[in-house]
Parts: sequence; structure tokens; C-alpha cells
Amino acid sequence: MRQKLTFAAALLHEPQALVIDEPMVGLDPKGARLLKDLFRGFVDRGGTILMSTHTLEVAEAMCDRIAIINHGKLIANEPTRELVGKAQEKVVAVTVDRDVATLPANACFGKIVLKGTRTLEIPYAKDRVNAGEVLAAVRAAWPSGRPLSVRISATDWADGGQSEADLLTVARALKHAGVDLIDVSTGQTVPWQKPVYGRMWQTPFADEVRNEIGIAAIAVGNIYEPDHVNTIIAAGRADLCAIARPHLANPAWTLQAAAGLGYEAQWWPKQYLAGKAQLERNLQRAAAITGVSG
Ligand SMILES: Cc1cc2nc3c(=O)[nH]c(=O)nc-3n(C[C@H](O)[C@H](O)[C@H](O)COP(=O)(O)O)c2cc1C
Repeated sequence: MRQKLTFAAALLHEPQALVIDEPMVGLDPKGARLLKDLFRGFVDRGGTILMSTHTLEVAEAMCDRIAIINHGKLIANEPTRELVGKAQEKVVAVTVDRDVATLPANACFGKIVLKGTRTLEIPYAKDRVNAGEVLAAVRAAWPSGRPLSVRISATDWADGGQSEADLLTVARALKHAGVDLIDVSTGQTVPWQKPVYGRMWQTPFADEVRNEIGIAAIAVGNIYEPDHVNTIIAAGRADLCAIARPHLANPAWTLQAAAGLGYEAQWWPKQYLAGKAQLERNLQRAAAITGVSG
């Protein structure tokens, strides 16, 4: 909301130029589309936007000209169309060998031919098992009092892939099939996906599933600060947050987050309790010196 207000406040002054850093990060899909149209209208009326982003896909979709800085050096500064044309030279052809309309969402198909290297065949699995049958069998075997969670890929990040309407249809079907919560991931379905990465980047999809369909949702993906988790939960965007890679770098991430927040209900293994007391003491000392807790 703060981000949207900032954009509204900036545009109210009818400026001639805008300088923006990562405008799309943290926005929900509808907000991102709206902002893109707003910016396009601003430029069509003669305005200029200088935007910085680490996501080439965003730059490609929004900018007329792209400059790329790599390790402090300007390595490209060209009209977008020319730059994209050069980048795609490596892919000689992408062919679809089946009628797309007859395929289920998420199906992989076709071929990618890479210049001078090899052809990647992307088969469509004819004998794919009906997900509904699997789900019914699991639900029947799983104790009814225990929650059943399903992980989905909310978008393929690719043209012709799963749409927003498909996502809601899938989520609704899972709810009716007796699923208790949906773990909302994205992508990894076709090699030509163009994901838009960023902090908490998949949370807008969890938000959509939870609030449009009314089923509990797990948000996952580049959620790496306790504050991220608390903001997502407090704003009602998800019911749980899953933290994956931060635990690879720091297996005690959750314990440290709980100590930092003074969350007493966190369970610690008995053998680690001496570490808990020391950590909490040090955090309290640091807070007393800096006046900042957590
Ligand atoms: C070592 C590792 C193994 C993973 N295995 C799976 C998997 O089997 N199925 C799956 O859906 N996601 C898998 N993921 C993806 C994570 O569940 C998660 O969605 C992803 O890492 C993004 O969350 P993060 O930013 O907190 O790491 C794996 C991630 C890692 C790092």
C-alpha cells in the first residue's frame, strides 16, 4: 500500500520525469499490471522514466531503451528491441508439435533448437495420471483430522501457460476435493519461463489463492527476514510462510528469529538451551546499547 501511495503521490505533481528503483517488487499481479499501464500512459504523454531493475524481464516489458551495468561497467545501451533481438540469436527455433488447445495447463510440449549445440525435446506425457484420482486416494488414506496440503505452481511465467483464471479454477477444485491448505510456488514447468524474481516474489499468488478462494495458503519464495513473515501474516496474505534456502545457510534461522523477537513459545532442543540463553542475553545487551530490539 505504501508503495502504491508513493507512486500516486509522485504522479499527482504531473512531473516531466520519474526516477524509480525496482517499481514492481512487492506489488500484487493486478497492481503490477496497473502500474505498467500507468507508466506507459505517462511516457505516451511525453514523460520520461529512468528505471533501475535487476530483472531483465521487467525492463524488456516496460522500457524503450535498456542500459546494462555489469560489475560497474556499462556493457550495453541500446533500444530494447535491438538488444532483445541480439539476446535471442542463440535460439534458432521453437516449434510446437501439438495442438496447444487440446493440452492441459502446465503440459510441456515442442522443441527448442539451440544454435550449433543440440535440440531439446520437450515431451507431453500422454499417460499422465489424473491428479484428482491421486488426491482422492491420498485423502482416503490420510487421517481426516490431519491437514492435507498440496503444492501448486501458480503460474508458468510463460505465454500460453497457466492463466490467472486457471489458477483460481485449480485452487477451487483442490478446496472442493478436501485439501486443507495450498502451498503456492510458481514456474519450473517450461524451460522458456520468464520469472520476475524479487523479495517475497511469489506471495502475491498465495494472497490471490487465499483471498479469492477462501482456503488457507502457504507463501514461499525469497522470504528471508522475520519481518517479511510477520508482514505477510499480519496483512492476511497467507496463513503460513515456508522458509527454504535461508535454512541451508543457517539451520538455526528460526531459533534466531524467535530469540530476536522475544518469542518465548519457540521450542528449542534441550541440548541447545545454553545457546538460547546466551543469544538472548547478547541481543538484550545490543538492544540496550543501540536502542533497537530484534
Ligand atoms: C535443496 C532444495 C530442495 C528443494 N526441493 C523441492 C522439491 O522437491 N519440490 C518443490 O516443490 N520445491 C523444492 N524446493 C523449492 C523450495 O521448496 C522453495 O519453494 C524454494 O527454495 C523457494 O523458497 P526459498 O526462497 O525460501 O528458498 C527445493 C529447494 C531447495 C533449496
